[in-house]
Amino acid sequence: MRTQVGIIGAGPAGLLLSRLLALQGIDSVVLENRSRSYVEARIRAGILEQHSVDTLTEVGLGHRLHREGLEHHGIYLQYPGTRHKLDFPDLCGRTVWVYGQTEVVKDLIAAQLDGGPPLLFDVSDVTPEDVDTDSPRIRFTDADGNPQLLECDVIAGTDGFHGPSRAVVHEAGGGKVWERTYPYAWLGILADVAPSTDELIYAWHPEGFALHSMRSPTVSRLYLQVDPSEKIEDWSDDRIWDDLATRFALDGWELQTGPVTEKSILPMRSFVSSPMRRGRLFLAGDAAHIVPPTGAKGLNLAVADVTLLATALVRLLKEGRSDLVDGYSDRALARVWRCTHFSWWMTSMLHTSGDEFDAELQLSQLRRVCSSEAAARELAENYTGLPID
Ligand code: APR
Ligand code: PHB
Repeated sequence: MRTQVGIIGAGPAGLLLSRLLALQGIDSVVLENRSRSYVEARIRAGILEQHSVDTLTEVGLGHRLHREGLEHHGIYLQYPGTRHKLDFPDLCGRTVWVYGQTEVVKDLIAAQLDGGPPLLFDVSDVTPEDVDTDSPRIRFTDADGNPQLLECDVIAGTDGFHGPSRAVVHEAGGGKVWERTYPYAWLGILADVAPSTDELIYAWHPEGFALHSMRSPTVSRLYLQVDPSEKIEDWSDDRIWDDLATRFALDGWELQTGPVTEKSILPMRSFVSSPMRRGRLFLAGDAAHIVPPTGAKGLNLAVADVTLLATALVRLLKEGRSDLVDGYSDRALARVWRCTHFSWWMTSMLHTSGDEFDAELQLSQLRRVCSSEAAARELAENYTGLPID
């Protein structure tokens, strides 16, 4: 088998890269070790920045997003006694969209299987080889158990945090990893109940952070800060709703409850791996970086990475010019660090540790963001997404 770009991983990064390349006449093959149904059922975050919406729309994937997605004009920041709306169009002229990553992936897969480049599910033993040469290869076993070799001009490692590509980059030496594990986790639920709010609520509370998000006019997504050692079995639906009601409490407002259809506990960490390239192997998305979910940046960073990478690969493969691939890692990492800072900052401002000094600093920062237009604009610009260039 031969292709121009061998893509490892069919998450949002790999699938969108394949589509961006196809629209520029560059062929690719996407190799995914999970099944289609597994990939389409994974529940992930749900906020799209303006540039992500624009990118998906430009590649012809905006129909369902514009029909079923919910455009949001701000968020509420809450601390005891106060719920303050940050108006994004007023502050920075941009909006965000609520549309689940699960739905983005379904749209990308449907488009790919409808006449797009090959997408192979259920492969195994995926191994990038010869990445320091101009003819790298991917060895893998196909779904029927046959060994295969995919010869490429370039390999994209879009295989998420646990995929094999990042280790291949680091084998060359000289790479660096930064990591921060936070001392809290999120307990997330999906519930069949209309959201009790028009915009997302990010709530600071002495008992811990809570977030009220949504997926549709009839489905709510809610999160509670919990200790990372907590077991989901110890959290009955009633206990979850009680804690949510306590943390979101505000005079004259009530949290509506409903059947919980999914619940899980998610760890929180920041992780950055540099460089995002070794020879003809390029990393993008979660393969190179993880952000805590508080800033809603994970999916948007993956979109930004592959937007840069696609442009760089088109230049390399069509014009034989390597300037953009040579600059790819530094350019992508500049945005990664901006989003890493923003996600860390949001996380640090909103999650309680039990330390009373920290709590006063957090409340002071929240009052500042809710009273100073400059401080609010800084949050709004980062939340809605800085321009890619
Ligand atoms: N071989 C083939 N595919 C693999 C392998 C492997 N050895 N290891 C992992 N994969 C696949 C995973 O099954 C997954 O489908 O790579 C894909 C990576 O997708 P994601 O984890 O969704 O990562 P990415 O596409 O970078 O998207 C980033 O996903 O995790 C969220 O918060 C994150 O929203 C962000 C987004
Ligand atoms: C979500 O809806 O899953 C969501 C929204 C905002 C965040 C994180 C997650 O900051």
